Amino acid sequence: HWPTSVTIKEVAPRDGLQNEKVFISTEDKIAWINQLSYSGLKNIEITSFVNPKWIPALSDAEAVAKGITRVSDVTYTALVPNNQGLERALEANIDEVAVFMSASETHNSKNINKSIKETFPVLREVVEAAHLAGKPSRGYVSTVFACPYEGTVDIEMVIGVSETLFEMGIRELSLGDTIGAANPKQVQEVLEVLLKRFPANKLALHFHDARGTALANILASLDMGITTFDAALGGLGGCPYAPGAYGNVATDDFLYMLDGMGIQTGVNQEKLLSASRFIQDKIGKPLPSRGLQVFGLS
Ligand code: HMG
Ligand code: MG
Repeated sequence: HWPTSVTIKEVAPRDGLQNEKVFISTEDKIAWINQLSYSGLKNIEITSFVNPKWIPALSDAEAVAKGITRVSDVTYTALVPNNQGLERALEANIDEVAVFMSASETHNSKNINKSIKETFPVLREVVEAAHLAGKPSRGYVSTVFACPYEGTVDIEMVIGVSETLFEMGIRELSLGDTIGAANPKQVQEVLEVLLKRFPANKLALHFHDARGTALANILASLDMGITTFDAALGGLGGCPYAPGAYGNVATDDFLYMLDGMGIQTGVNQEKLLSASRFIQDKIGKPLPSRGLQVFGLS
């Protein structure tokens, strides 16, 4: 009952680098994203058009978006928090806009400085203006499974935020386990509720891997009919405004598992591993990916 193919949405250039102390040069970011573009990945989140004071690591968003070589069948996405961000993203000719907010008030306000209610009109304006400019939108809802500040998150909050984002016109919703707290049973319980309201092909899962449960959570999601997953090369990732956040599920390990199960992704393991080594070298410390630690250093 496994699917025949899965879509991997690579988020390391955004989710990964936003959480690193070291500033990766614009030139290195571009070289690395180009490697990802030629690895067979079809969706790459390359940067964020947020306030650079909040995320200094991605302050070169324009230069990165304009400097990379665009491969025609790859969708290049960027995070956009507001209209000012959208103007920058459109100027840089991004293919897809990703808006983001949380299902818990405290993380929402620590991360984007607004209440949930105040966030809706801001994101609605972004999604609608992006649409008018011919750009599709993706939505993220963070803290679906737990909030670093509030703990348990009421499923009604997740439903409310998700419904509002879909109603704005996003084409896909990514459900974030921001601090890597979920377990497979919880994943199935949450998906059981959400799949009564939204079709599986409109949902993506975004697992961080603080406690080693991300691949297990992915399997539980596959079992529920989900076929789109966010992942970050090398297991990079984390939100600077979510204490305890750790890397996303490592694309390299995830791909190894899918390849072994005969599930198609179109992504080449060797090319991906080589891009992992490249960024590990630039960051200057071992990355969490198990494959990279065990086999990748030679
Ligand atoms: P604010 O301070 O409330 O914004 O920040 P403001 O509208 O009051 O403006 C204040 C200043 O910011 C002004 O400049 C604006 O021009 C500037 P000043 O007049 O003081 O010089 N500004 C901007 N500059 C450039 N680009 C912009 C922009 N907007 C305002 N777009 C804001 C509100 C949302 C901007 C801020 O809180 C912010 O940038 N937050 C981003 C935080 C972030 O990127 N977090 C990580 C990503 S989310 C995540 O990782 C979770 C996810 O992976 C899923 C999961 O794992 O759960 C997606
Ligand atoms: Mg994340």
